[in-house]
Amino acid sequence: MYSAHLLLAHNFWKSLLKPGDTVVDATCGNGQDAQVLGSIVLTENCGRLFCFDIQEAAVHATKKRLYEAFPSFQNQIFVKQECHTKWSTTLEKENIKGFIYNLGWLPNSDKAIVTQVESTLESIQQALKMLSNQGIISIMCYPGHPEGKNERDALLKMLATISKSTFLVSHHQWINRSTHPELILIRKS
Ligand SMILES: C[S@@+](CC[C@H](N)C(=O)[O-])C[C@H]1O[C@@H](n2cnc3c(N)ncnc32)[C@H](O)[C@@H]1O
Repeated sequence: MYSAHLLLAHNFWKSLLKPGDTVVDATCGNGQDAQVLGSIVLTENCGRLFCFDIQEAAVHATKKRLYEAFPSFQNQIFVKQECHTKWSTTLEKENIKGFIYNLGWLPNSDKAIVTQVESTLESIQQALKMLSNQGIISIMCYPGHPEGKNERDALLKMLATISKSTFLVSHHQWINRSTHPELILIRKS
């Protein structure tokens, strides 16, 4: 059973992505989000799913989950152990309709391995440049811990300045739970 903030993100993807799209999970972790993305975009010989994570265990877990969930589409799934600031060679020829970020650390693992403000901002700047028209970026933030709060604050500051003629940016927070995950959604016109 997914919690409310994840359902919100998943419904956003489901309403704006379609079968055949190429999408990127920038922080694939255990592959749960990637599986939802795969169920939206992967179809016979069409749709591509790229997944990145810096942890070897995350790459193994995501590959296992996706190959079991989508055995017929394995040649449309690409899972790499790579930082999401170093992905340009892999993605440069792709027409990318969605970038998905779920920040923070992998649940039940080493909390020292966590997304960092500077690399997250750099990665999202790159994603904004690579995103196709009508594409989307979704970013789940975790302000309940100090690094996560800094990351959320830095993202909101940066995203408030991006072109208003090209991008629409929204920020969802649960107003009676200040430490609950928050969702930033971006749509390119
Ligand atoms: C909240 S978890 C992601 C959960 C995942 N989306 C899922 O469905 O299981 C955050 C992940 O970001 C990864 N991560 C941290 N820094 C990263 C970076 N610079 N590039 C790519 N992944 C990174 C962590 O290793 C961790 O697995």
